[in-house]
Amino acid sequence: MSIIEVKDLHKTFIRPDGTKLHVLNGINTKISKGEKISVIGPSGSGKSTFLRCLNRMEEPTSGEIIFNGQDITAKTCDINLVRRKMGMVFQHFYLFPHLTVRKNLTLSPVELKIMTQVLLKQIVIKCYLI
Ligand SMILES: Nc1ncnc2c1ncn2[C@@H]1O[C@H](COP(=O)(O)OP(=O)(O)OP(=O)(O)O)[C@@H](O)[C@H]1O
Ligand SMILES: [Mg+2]
Repeated sequence: MSIIEVKDLHKTFIRPDGTKLHVLNGINTKISKGEKISVIGPSGSGKSTFLRCLNRMEEPTSGEIIFNGQDITAKTCDINLVRRKMGMVFQHFYLFPHLTVRKNLTLSPVELKIMTQVLLKQIVIKCYLI
């Protein structure tokens, strides 16, 4: 079973001048538990918008996101409960500059008691800088 399934996801931003920017144009994908994937594309193509939609930090304009069997785009979904099971580490100013890459990645799951520091130390974190 997929841990994340995305069905016909669209996101349109309304610019300050009232014009529309259709960033996500019907994305369909399935991600299995333990699978490691990369989302690649030019700057401005919508990678961060897509990731933010996955835990509704950006509200999708339409489409469905099924996380662990639950439709998290449903009106009845308590998104804060879902977010406790989804970790995200963003780029630039969202990072703590005084912490290492490993500390930045592990801070949230340790604080939320989702994983222990001991368990996380067993996970090898590789960074590929391009
Ligand atoms: N809140 C917003 N309001 C209006 N437009 C936005 C908003 N957030 C993002 N955009 C626009 O949506 C497009 C996609 O932005 P996004 O940040 O998702 O791209 P990206 O692929 O992550 O880029 P980068 O590689 O530079 O991180 C860009 O044109 C951006 O200006
Ligand atoms: Mg981005």
